[in-house]
Amino acid sequence: MLTSIKNHNLQYETQKLGMMYFRVAIILFGAQLLMGLIAAIQFMYPSFLYGIFDFSVARMVHINALVVWMLYAMIGSVYYMIPDETGLEAVGIKLGKLAFWVLTLAITIVVLVFIFIQIGPGDDSTIWLINEGREYLEAPRWADYGIVVVVLIFYYNVFFTFLKGRRTGVMTVMVANLLALAGLYLAGMFFTDNISVDQYWWWWVIHLWVEATWEVFVGTLAAYALIKIIGAKREIVEMWLWIEVLMLFGSGILGLGHHYFWIGTPEYWWEIGALFSALEPVPLVAMFVHVLYDWGKEQGAHGEKPAIKNGPAMAWIVTNAFGNFLGAGIWGFFHTLPQVNIYTHGTQFTAAHGHLAFFGAYATILIGMMYLGIQGAYGIDRMKATFKSKMAIFLITFGVLGMAVALTIAGYEQVLVERAELGGGWDAFFTAQNLVWMKQAMGWRTVMGVVTFIGFIYLVWDLLTIGKEESENNQ
Ligand code: HEM
Ligand code: HEM
Ligand SMILES: [Fe+2]
Repeated sequence: MLTSIKNHNLQYETQKLGMMYFRVAIILFGAQLLMGLIAAIQFMYPSFLYGIFDFSVARMVHINALVVWMLYAMIGSVYYMIPDETGLEAVGIKLGKLAFWVLTLAITIVVLVFIFIQIGPGDDSTIWLINEGREYLEAPRWADYGIVVVVLIFYYNVFFTFLKGRRTGVMTVMVANLLALAGLYLAGMFFTDNISVDQYWWWWVIHLWVEATWEVFVGTLAAYALIKIIGAKREIVEMWLWIEVLMLFGSGILGLGHHYFWIGTPEYWWEIGALFSALEPVPLVAMFVHVLYDWGKEQGAHGEKPAIKNGPAMAWIVTNAFGNFLGAGIWGFFHTLPQVNIYTHGTQFTAAHGHLAFFGAYATILIGMMYLGIQGAYGIDRMKATFKSKMAIFLITFGVLGMAVALTIAGYEQVLVERAELGGGWDAFFTAQNLVWMKQAMGWRTVMGVVTFIGFIYLVWDLLTIGKEESENNQ
């Protein structure tokens, strides 16, 4: 399907490889949303597909597809950036292409096993072949090792091309950050029977990815994209980038403590987690100001509206600045103090934050990068948003915001009824699940999920057609 996108304007094989990653990413994004819809319907009608495709399976594929499409889009973005930043083709481009196919084959097998085999006897063979059972990282162990090999090839390409080529600030941060990002994956490969120890390391991957290394990654993408789209000055975006890196790591690393409140880790984590995680919104404000400042500055420089070279990409990047601050910063801050978290922990409030943060901080900018890719692939000088681009960004953003509001209401009900009033036991959980506020919230979540999905259809349609339409308009 997406192969109809032309690559002929891209001079570098590395950028074509980036586009291949984008294609798989968008397919997996679609799969993620479909699984979310199934899981949402199961919340309302628990017997829906029961015994055939249980909630546990739909939910698992939903969040694993999320992680994997984001990894694909991230790798795609890096391959796309490499020639622009370093001035060179990736040193091991052939190996890079091979790795793409190996990874894609492996992911296909894992997904098919998730969907059709689903569960095993629960012994070692299950862990090796079917499912490792760590939320977000459920891939079976054989795939774990495979992923490490593929990522090593990717990193080899990034690192050695960087050494050979131009060494920009953006690439310097990118290279160092990717090493941390890939290294952290190994923390999710500690195998132990002790659930506290297991969770302890698992959070290294989950938290330190999304609140440290992925955030820095987004900083580098925003820096690169702002240079490309509005011609922002490199010295300025790179200065911001260094400040953000410093702050993100400063608060994000010890902010890890907000997951160590109730898993059997020592109590000093209450104070550490409270303090440092409460500081986490600060760098997110900086990232927000950064995008708007650069945009405003370019506007001032020309005394008119800045020439936005890529309308849809810019719209998604501005949405990213807002969304990151709102979903991660505000919704994260709400429940990050132990005094609050003791009531909100593991409620739908967490899911509200999870949706808004992953969408706002990552989905948005990665979609923006795909639009940059299309622009390059068609060699369009100035790509304007089409009606479909606008429908896509409006419906997807509105849908996800709507879902987050519904989930926040559901979480609030859980806090008040299940936790505060009834004390949080097994019965309390079911009482809260069956109250009308919860049911209505779950209904609205499904409706907003459908809105999101319609937006996704517009997005795919736009990505498939905007290049051709806009290159004709430009002639
Ligand atoms: C883009 C960045 C972020 C993403 C993608 C993200 C995503 C998530 C997700 C998916 C969970 C649920 C994990 C699970 O399944 O157990 C979670 C939990 C949590 N997040 Fe974030 N988050 C981000 C940033 C933040 C920030 C900046 C804060 C605080 C200021 C924060 C505070 C929390 C807390 C306290 C929890 C635990 C919730 C509970 O106890 O149930 N997050 N986050
Ligand atoms: C069609 C739209 C979507 C629907 C209907 C949907 C539905 C769901 C459902 C039912 C769950 C399970 C919640 C639970 O266990 O209580 C879930 C979890 C999750 N979804 Fe979605 N989702 C959608 C889109 C998205 C998007 C766009 C993202 C991020 C970009 C996302 C990220 C997540 C995450 C991170 C979790 C785990 C949350 C947690 O453990 O706290 N979903 N989703
Ligand atoms: Fe966290």
